[in-house]
Amino acid sequence: MERWAGRVALVTGASSGIGAAIALALLNRDMKVVGCARNVDNVQALSSKMREGSKGSLTVVHCDLRNHDDITSMFEQIRSEFGILHLCVNAAGLSKDAPLLSGDTDSWKEMLDVNVLAVSICTREAVTLMRDSGVDDGHIFNVCSMAGHRPLNNKMNSFYGATKYAVRALTEGVRAELRGLKSHIRVTEISPGLVETEFFVRLGGEQFSQKIFKNLKV
Ligand SMILES: NC(=O)c1ccc[n+]([C@@H]2O[C@H](COP(=O)([O-])OP(=O)(O)OC[C@H]3O[C@@H](n4cnc5c(N)ncnc54)[C@H](OP(=O)(O)O)[C@@H]3O)[C@@H](O)[C@H]2O)c1
Repeated sequence: MERWAGRVALVTGASSGIGAAIALALLNRDMKVVGCARNVDNVQALSSKMREGSKGSLTVVHCDLRNHDDITSMFEQIRSEFGILHLCVNAAGLSKDAPLLSGDTDSWKEMLDVNVLAVSICTREAVTLMRDSGVDDGHIFNVCSMAGHRPLNNKMNSFYGATKYAVRALTEGVRAELRGLKSHIRVTEISPGLVETEFFVRLGGEQFSQKIFKNLKV
């Protein structure tokens, strides 16, 4: 990890759960972290959790990943403030209760926008900035899901699963394109199982989330 100290990382979904934990871990490894989300107060709160003596720095950016202009402005800000990018962690994501035979189209669109399109746009912009700034050992991390590896036995999350299958396909596609460019920038997909974050609260409320995790705790 030492080689990452002082380098610039973008973490999407830095206001909560997995993205917030990754952003904090990178700050504690002395990285310059750009943390984005809509709930910017939560992202800002990471600075008070940094280990004493960390040389990391936090830049908080309001970005609604459903909005392409927001993503473009965020990359313009990174370009003007840092001129360089070494790491992009695509952690933001969501599931909505929207079955395939009865779910509403807006919920599917939101999942597609955040889980698939924003990952694609951020990846394209991140690799472009890395290559423009001479970074050949950069890294893109896509937070996927086990839901992207096998069908879920629950109709609530079928569309979500489809977006995560897409993330796996995108990861392999980007890897192939980078190889074609003879670039050493890497792309990695991480697929967590169940993680107790706000994810299930947002999906079905506090009680729904508690019920899921109650039976898993020893
Ligand atoms: N929790 C699990 O069991 C689990 C399992 C496998 C994979 N995952 C994946 O892990 C990733 C992180 O999930 P989590 O568990 O940490 O969930 P979480 O606690 O609900 O965090 C989700 C993050 O995504 C951001 N986000 C959602 N919609 C956004 C939008 N329109 N614009 C900008 N940011 C948006 C949220 O920020 P704001 O709301 O502040 O904008 C928040 O920071 C997701 O990709 C999820 O699919 C989670």
